[in-house]
Amino acid sequence: MCELYCKQDTLALRRKHIGPSCKVFFAADPIKIVRAQRQYMFDENGAQYLDCINNVAHVGHCHPEVVKAAQKQMEVLNTNSRFLHDNIVEYAKRLSATLPEKLSVCYFTNSGSEANDLALRLARQFRGHEDVITLDHAYHGHLSSLIDISPYKFGKGRAVKKEFVHVAPTPDTYRGKYREDHADPASAYADEVKKIIEEAHKSGRKIAAFIAESMQSCGGQIIPPAGYFQKVAEYVRGAGGVFIADEVQVGFGRVGKHFWSFQMHGEDFVPDIVTMGKPMGNGHPVACVITTKEIAEAFSSSGMEYFNTYGGNPVSSAVGLAVLDVIENEDLQGNATRVGSYLIELLNKQKAKHTLIGDIRGTGLFIGIDLVKDHQKRTPATAEAQHIIYKMKEKRVLLSADGPHRNVLKIKPPMCFTEEDAKFMVDQLDGILTVLEEATGDKTENVISENTPCRTKMPKEVLSEGAPDQKENPSQKRNGLCTDKHSLLSKRLKT
Ligand SMILES: Cc1ncc(COP(=O)(O)O)c(C=O)c1O
Repeated sequence: MCELYCKQDTLALRRKHIGPSCKVFFAADPIKIVRAQRQYMFDENGAQYLDCINNVAHVGHCHPEVVKAAQKQMEVLNTNSRFLHDNIVEYAKRLSATLPEKLSVCYFTNSGSEANDLALRLARQFRGHEDVITLDHAYHGHLSSLIDISPYKFGKGRAVKKEFVHVAPTPDTYRGKYREDHADPASAYADEVKKIIEEAHKSGRKIAAFIAESMQSCGGQIIPPAGYFQKVAEYVRGAGGVFIADEVQVGFGRVGKHFWSFQMHGEDFVPDIVTMGKPMGNGHPVACVITTKEIAEAFSSSGMEYFNTYGGNPVSSAVGLAVLDVIENEDLQGNATRVGSYLIELLNKQKAKHTLIGDIRGTGLFIGIDLVKDHQKRTPATAEAQHIIYKMKEKRVLLSADGPHRNVLKIKPPMCFTEEDAKFMVDQLDGILTVLEEATGDKTENVISENTPCRTKMPKEVLSEGAPDQKENPSQKRNGLCTDKHSLLSKRLKT
């Protein structure tokens, strides 16, 4: 009923007519999804998949309240924001109310990329500076202006780093430059930003902005140490720049106790610009930049108007308002807190059992499982991660692996994810890890290349042998937020 073509024809047409750089999940064996509801997706044969990765379908796939709001408004009016309309102002008012008071001026866009591009324009107009400090492995969008500041992209392609871009080390206390054994990783990482600013000034360059996701997602589910953002903001503002918090992936209550992820860092940290997208419209293209009156006034003083044909249209705004209502009415933040804690607890038990798990980190329904071949060296288990996501797919659980080494299993499901879903997901993972570890012993290479059913689908990375150390479990004592209840950072960060 939901199909125009059989799966093979869809694939053939896709190969013919869709640009080859647009990749599908599970490229070796793609899934055709024909419908979805809540946290479940269904293929053309009716098989149900548990969706652990879709943070866009934030309040649940095809939520009836969101669908109803869109349909109702589409029947009445959809037009651009040059006409007065209540939806856009109501939505701006409601969004601003979720943020600290000084963040009160909204610009609506259609995608996270448009929002970040505009954020850069706002920052550059503010003081007339050009340079941008970004974090290593960051991804901020697909527009040229954002590829320039996304090492996740320009690091892989042929593009070279532009002169106005400065890359600071990712504040990753598990495999970054300063780790859990460092006395003050927040200051050490922030000092790297300070050094960058000093070097830029020596070459006559001026900093317009520091941009970072409040928790790095594509970069491997990284949670910066408490105090890092405060220090960075101080240095950047001292240099005449602004702090842009990219909440495109991690906003809208995903972290549970807070609506915005940057709020985990305490009330004394307020960015100058916040960008948001993905979950905002539950799949409908809605995104936004929110900033201060001062920055907005500086932007308009250039004399150039900002017009975005679809940004903030009555339908998008109605959808956005419905999403906010559902988050509140269904207590999805509370759900993210409860189910996220339970899931982290289950995963930590798995960490104690499986040598492949090096680190569990996350908060709310934003969790990463860092797979390693060797706990001492933290050698990324890249091929194993790819193997696991294919095996999980066979068990009807959708997961992805990302991070610079593609060894971090990312969990960011719709916010209606339940404890039963968490248990089911972890049971499947447990089974797969058990088979993998039993069959490999110390030599993961053999089982993956010779014994597993999906070996033909494995990527061609060369697997180096590693003997995981069962005794050593460094992440238990590390400075990470949710590795365990007693970690240092969990005491520091207000989660
Ligand atoms: C952190 C972050 N910022 C911005 C974007 C760009 O958003 P969009 O794909 O809606 O343009 C993405 C997309 O993945 C993202 O992950």
